Amino acid sequence: MTLTRKDFPDHFIFGVATSSYQIEGAAHEGGRGPSIWDTFCREPGRILDGSNGDVACDHYHRWPADLDLIRGLGAQAYRFSIAWPRIQPDGKGAINPAGLDFYERLVDGMLERGLQPYATLYHWDLPQTLQDVGGWANRDTAYRFAEYARVVAERLGERVKSYATLNEPWCSSLLSYEIGEHAPGLRDRRLALAAAHHLMLGHGEAIAAMRDVVPSTGLGIVLNLQPAYPASDRPEDVAAARFADGYFNRWFLDPIFRAEYPADMWEAYGENVPEVQDGDLARIAQPIDFLGVNYYSRSVNGASGNVKPAESSYTHMGWEVYPQGLTDLLVRLKDDYTLPPIYITENGAAYPDRLSGQEVHDPERVRYFQQHLGAVAEAVRQGVSVDGYFAWSLMDNFEWAHGYDKRFGLVYVDYATQQRTLKDSARWYQGLLTGQPEGQ
Ligand code: NOJ
Repeated sequence: MTLTRKDFPDHFIFGVATSSYQIEGAAHEGGRGPSIWDTFCREPGRILDGSNGDVACDHYHRWPADLDLIRGLGAQAYRFSIAWPRIQPDGKGAINPAGLDFYERLVDGMLERGLQPYATLYHWDLPQTLQDVGGWANRDTAYRFAEYARVVAERLGERVKSYATLNEPWCSSLLSYEIGEHAPGLRDRRLALAAAHHLMLGHGEAIAAMRDVVPSTGLGIVLNLQPAYPASDRPEDVAAARFADGYFNRWFLDPIFRAEYPADMWEAYGENVPEVQDGDLARIAQPIDFLGVNYYSRSVNGASGNVKPAESSYTHMGWEVYPQGLTDLLVRLKDDYTLPPIYITENGAAYPDRLSGQEVHDPERVRYFQQHLGAVAEAVRQGVSVDGYFAWSLMDNFEWAHGYDKRFGLVYVDYATQQRTLKDSARWYQGLLTGQPEGQ
């Protein structure tokens, strides 16, 4: 069945998403201080293609044309992130006016084009000076983050429709401090769990710091949630899936929506659990206005490791395409937690796209979007309150440890010329959003 705008509630928002380090470039311009990703990219072997975000999509200089592109797609909203080291090059104290000016121009540029600004305050580019004193493993970073959040909210105010504190704290803690795949590239579970706790504390502190400054703007957080399915009914596999759910999902959902850490995981982590001070959980669990959900795939867990179902298809990242997981996840969130409205703040797929003339044919990505939007519509039919959907990503960009080889964009970027070309998926999305048949 063809999906149309009418399959979603009238107030439902459609948008596109990006993040600062992945698209801006201009790493040494406008008074920006170094971030942990500048450092990490310079360490040999960290980034698969040896690249970095120094230039990326050069969005810092090309933002007016990029905003025109977003408007041209028929999107109502744009989810972008603010680079902390542009606002406070040292991560604390002195504020860099050129950084605030840049984001103010960007936000005003969105409003002039009828786009609603959805800002994320932390999409992984921590000022390096804060990493030099322990980064998120240091409790003080939570307070520095709240100070930065307040500075941004005071300047951009309620022109911003929604502020998310953190993007995917699982990635900035466990993937970065335990698995070592993201900056700062450490391998220490105890530090990773300390980082996760301080990230969530920073989230709570930032919400508290911004509430009075922007009382009618929506405040929330974005989590990467990955439903975990057991490979079989065997108790060992069921236990493996339960652990995966705790590791990726409940470790973040429970503190935020229940003011507690999940007891099974607390026990499993043993002596590596973080130091939780009196009042921390109440701070973390204060009310928020939305939950952002980033969904890409599921995991299938067996006692002896993850399983990749042979009958499924996989994206260029090697991630299983499993739209049903998004419906299951959303329904489960509704059943297990008392939640504010949800936004799908990211969903998308990488494929090895090629430019042929002025076109890029990406039928797999079109199918991916169709199926996942269908899965969202189904969850809404089942009573889940979802207020919007942001496609990841507006354009191809720096895919972290994978560099530029993995392309997630609706728009193709030729990095040699910075030329942007709409892929077939962009035309399809435009058709859905504007109600026009594809390509017209
Ligand atoms: C989630 C992250 O927020 C984003 O930065 C990344 O590019 C996508 N996933 C794809 O991996």
